[in-house]
Amino acid sequence: MTAIHPSILSADFANLESELGRIRGADAVHVDVMDNHFVPNLTLGLPVVQAIRKVTDLPLDIHLMIEDADVWAPQYAELGAESVTFHAEAAKAPIRLARQLRSQGSKSAMALRPATAVEPYLDMLSELDMLLLMTVEPGFGGQKFLDIMLPKIRRARQAADDLGSRVAIQIDGGVSSETIERAAEAGADTFVAGSAVYSAEDPEEAIAQLRRLAASAAESS
Ligand code: DX5
Ligand code: ZN
Repeated sequence: MTAIHPSILSADFANLESELGRIRGADAVHVDVMDNHFVPNLTLGLPVVQAIRKVTDLPLDIHLMIEDADVWAPQYAELGAESVTFHAEAAKAPIRLARQLRSQGSKSAMALRPATAVEPYLDMLSELDMLLLMTVEPGFGGQKFLDIMLPKIRRARQAADDLGSRVAIQIDGGVSSETIERAAEAGADTFVAGSAVYSAEDPEEAIAQLRRLAASAAESS
């Protein structure tokens, strides 16, 4: 199932409620939490996520680009986030953390930086509802899609299929109408898009177009 998750990193932070109103057709809203340690940028944390929760019915897809994920991730699940994504590079005990998130009623998701190999994590795919393969170096919106990640997406999809795993494969970074089809062909099914949605004149139309392109590319692959 193709899903489009717009990232509010590219939205107007002074008007988040109305910005959320511009993406009602999305499958979830992607919220980028950055701590200026794991990545060289600082965005928002628990109080802002709590405020967002109150003004939208969209599922919250929380992407934690922060250190000490074992400590912080459960607190986002506690707020009622539908899915919480921690980075493998920032988790001391990723399997324990994934299990904890599920036990809190949230989907468990794990992200890998572009230069982190997926192979060491394949045995834990059954613990995850979603695997996020970054297609830019995390930290900023508006970067160029890394085509060199396509083989990694393909290998992850193949491994998930071989294991009979229903894990969603999400990509994040540089997703646009130019790039989404090749990522979908490679096996991604969940797409984060920040600038491609929020810089569009009509964000709803941008979401619909991305979904159409990805779905037809997935079908023909
Ligand atoms: C980057 C964030 C992304 C960002 C994507 O580190 O994780 O979610 O918002 O922005 P675009 O779609 O503009 O590359
Ligand atoms: Zn993100």
